[in-house]
Amino acid sequence: MYYPEELVEEIRERNDIVEVIGSYVKLQKKGSSYFGLCPFHNEKSPSFSVSPDKQMYYCFGCGAGGNVFTFIMEYENYSFPEALKYLAERAGVKLPEQEYSAEEKKQQDLRSRILELNKMAARYFYYQLRTENGALAMRYLKGRQLTDETIKSFGLGYANKYSDDLYRYMKSKGVSDELLKEAGLVNVDEKRGMYDKFWNRVIFPIMDVNNRVIGFGGRVMGDGKPKYLNSPETKVFDKSRNLYGLNVARTSRKKYLLVCEGYMDVISLHQAGFQNAVASLGTALTDKHAALLKRYTDEVILTYDSDEAGVRAALRAIPIVKHAGLKAKVLHMDPYKDPDEFIKALGAEAFQERIDQAENSFMFELSAMERQYDMKDPEGKTAFFQSVAEKLVEFEQELERDNYIEAVAVKYHIGFENLRKMVNRTAMRAIGREPRADIVKEKKEKEKKEKDDGIRKSQRLLLTWLIERPGLYEKVKPYISAEDFTVDLYHQAAELLFAQLEQGELNPARIINHFEEPEQQKEAASLFHAKLKLTSEAENNKAFNETLRRIMNNSIEHRMANLDPADLAGLQKILQDKKKMESMPRLPL
Ligand code: UTP
Ligand code: MN
Repeated sequence: MYYPEELVEEIRERNDIVEVIGSYVKLQKKGSSYFGLCPFHNEKSPSFSVSPDKQMYYCFGCGAGGNVFTFIMEYENYSFPEALKYLAERAGVKLPEQEYSAEEKKQQDLRSRILELNKMAARYFYYQLRTENGALAMRYLKGRQLTDETIKSFGLGYANKYSDDLYRYMKSKGVSDELLKEAGLVNVDEKRGMYDKFWNRVIFPIMDVNNRVIGFGGRVMGDGKPKYLNSPETKVFDKSRNLYGLNVARTSRKKYLLVCEGYMDVISLHQAGFQNAVASLGTALTDKHAALLKRYTDEVILTYDSDEAGVRAALRAIPIVKHAGLKAKVLHMDPYKDPDEFIKALGAEAFQERIDQAENSFMFELSAMERQYDMKDPEGKTAFFQSVAEKLVEFEQELERDNYIEAVAVKYHIGFENLRKMVNRTAMRAIGREPRADIVKEKKEKEKKEKDDGIRKSQRLLLTWLIERPGLYEKVKPYISAEDFTVDLYHQAAELLFAQLEQGELNPARIINHFEEPEQQKEAASLFHAKLKLTSEAENNKAFNETLRRIMNNSIEHRMANLDPADLAGLQKILQDKKKMESMPRLPL
């Protein structure tokens, strides 16, 4: 959906960034900016700044930054249109009706109707828990040592023992059978017709990160089977993309998230003060879960059950979370089965100790591997170490690899050098198998990447210079244009920035509007907050001139490489620019 720039800008201007962020983060004025604790990473002293002049925020700790749209997108996990809608409403700006295709509109409508229905059902269950009929369920939850506050904050409820109670209630509200089916709240059976999916169970509403009810889990009160029933997948409920408790955990401001198996684990951990706990929804952890986790943290502690199934689940989850770029540790719960039992038996402090002692996921994998070999037999033992060596080879950085070799050597009482030799031999064999062409290609790619990084850096640096010292623009204008910024994001930023400088007014937050992806907004925002390292003015001047030349040179090379042989004007311009660069005097800063 496209909105005109003027409208986007109006909505931005009518939402003062200090007011908006101030409603989420406690801010204190210091000089011309406001400071607070960054909501995007865990910190003890404030490095999160909000500038009323620039109408931007920036965290000097984690690099999060952008304008008021970026903030809402990141904090609420909204897309750009969602953030726009939210801020338009907040400021009382009316958005034009969106022009969806008929099919899109139907799907969109269906989604919001299911969400609406889920909310109604959740309220109904919540209410039932508090009626006389619900006393039994309430007693069950209290018996599991949940406090009133916990029961309330997780919105727990009760589906009473009549198997058509919800159905009747919904019909009395005029809800269609079709919609009830789409929401997965009813089952259809030839003999019985429509009846409730959940009855005589305590209900756990499942919320997405925006606190919308997307589905339900229902537990029998006692030992019946199945223990839990869950909503089927619907238009709004995708089990592989949502995690129970993440709506709360994402704002818990801890360095890591605890990933456990069950609803009850999450609830009792939160109650014990570990609000950074989440669980998958009765399925194994997927790549999509891992990507979701990575949006909120860099480290997970797998807090799976201590039984065999839990260990297997952890072993499956480790490569998945690592692949998503997360650090992983494994928490040992023994002799208790799961976090819920552990907390009940030993309390929160003991659990925190287990967190502190959580095992490195690599070492955890080794322990599991060890069990597959007969370690009493010399042959079995050798085979085990050979597998260990093969695993160690996978660490690409030498230092990291050495650290792990050392840890393994200590754990298994073998010589560091012996193990290292074994790892090196394994690595050599692996390389020997690789065709040379691959290595050459890899090296070339690495060199190219280094060069690209250098060019990126130069283009970025020049933009920062121009932002910090607006007078500079007049000096570089004869030599540099927005086209010379070959990195797409910088090219766009340069175009906007140069247009503003031409007009003599710098409006950083407006530049950010042009980028839809939070990642791009963040990078654009950082341009306005990068502090140039001031050494001596002479050194600065030298760096500035070198940067300028590097950008011009790259632009010429870039155009040469992409030149259409028939494009004479293009060629002429390149030659001209080359001359210009060669005769460019050293510019004063
Ligand atoms: P658990 O059996 O460990 O349940 O299953 P739990 O959450 O610890 O609950 P309590 O303490 O026994 O009451 C872990 C998760 O697996 C899914 C649920 O998501 C559950 O939270 N599950 C389990 C089902 O979907 N269906 C089942 O029948 C059992
Ligand atoms: Mn459990």
